[in-house]
Amino acid sequence: MEYEIDQTLLERLRSAQHALVLTGAGMSAESGIPTFRDAQTGIWARYRPEELATPEAFAADPGRVWRWYEERREKVRQARPHAGHEALAALEHLIPSLTIATQNVDGLHQQAGSARVIELHGNILRSKCSVTHRPISSEWLKDVTGCPPPSPYNAKGLARPDVVWFGEVLPQDALDTAMAAARNCDICFSVGTTSLVQPAASLPLLAKQHGAILLEINPVDTALSAQADGRLRGPASSALQAVLQQLRGTA
Ligand code: APR
Repeated sequence: MEYEIDQTLLERLRSAQHALVLTGAGMSAESGIPTFRDAQTGIWARYRPEELATPEAFAADPGRVWRWYEERREKVRQARPHAGHEALAALEHLIPSLTIATQNVDGLHQQAGSARVIELHGNILRSKCSVTHRPISSEWLKDVTGCPPPSPYNAKGLARPDVVWFGEVLPQDALDTAMAAARNCDICFSVGTTSLVQPAASLPLLAKQHGAILLEINPVDTALSAQADGRLRGPASSALQAVLQQLRGTA
């Protein structure tokens, strides 16, 4: 069978009480949202991160950054969860406590029905004030003009996407909750991430240090692969469906 999980791992998976699933851009690839670092198709193959995804880039040319994010938002609005997102939502009914910590900013896990989702890098569909970082409502944005629109909270503030840029810290609550889940889990999945961007990349290692088994789902090897106890070499949709079937015993 394709994506067969070995018997010892499967038994650990069946008896797991707590699971942590770290997801990255590869999780959303089959929903039509490009990854960042894949050669040819990745976003950073076409654009330079420092010109678009840093506070300095926004300060230098807020209009350019806002327009670029508006294009990405449009793609995200049209995207729908795929069978892999649905498989993860279904896993919540088989494992007593399952937490997803995602680096993705597209909300697709929540759309698929996953209940406990930690957004490590924010959410592209939300906006916040560039000075105070307070959330800005979509009602406000509908009624004002500007590229970017002004902030309601600060005369010098502008609306910016509520995402974590290079050089910025992650929301503390999100990181604390994800780290607690990593320390507490019996099984950790790493799905569709190159495992290069910190601190997210260290979560599976933290889980492993605390005794969890580590399963990686990715079509190719990553910085994490050598540490993984099991590797499913393929796209998130079919590999996660296979995990679900084996856990249910229907494979
Ligand atoms: N299924 C599973 N994995 C896939 C798929 C797929 N269908 N397609 C591609 N991948 C894998 C790639 O092999 C790669 O390892 O997804 C990974 C995508 O890696 P990145 O583009 O580096 O994305 P990610 O690791 O999430 O990036 C982390 O970097 O630029 C920042 O803030 C951005 O959150 C992002 C962070």
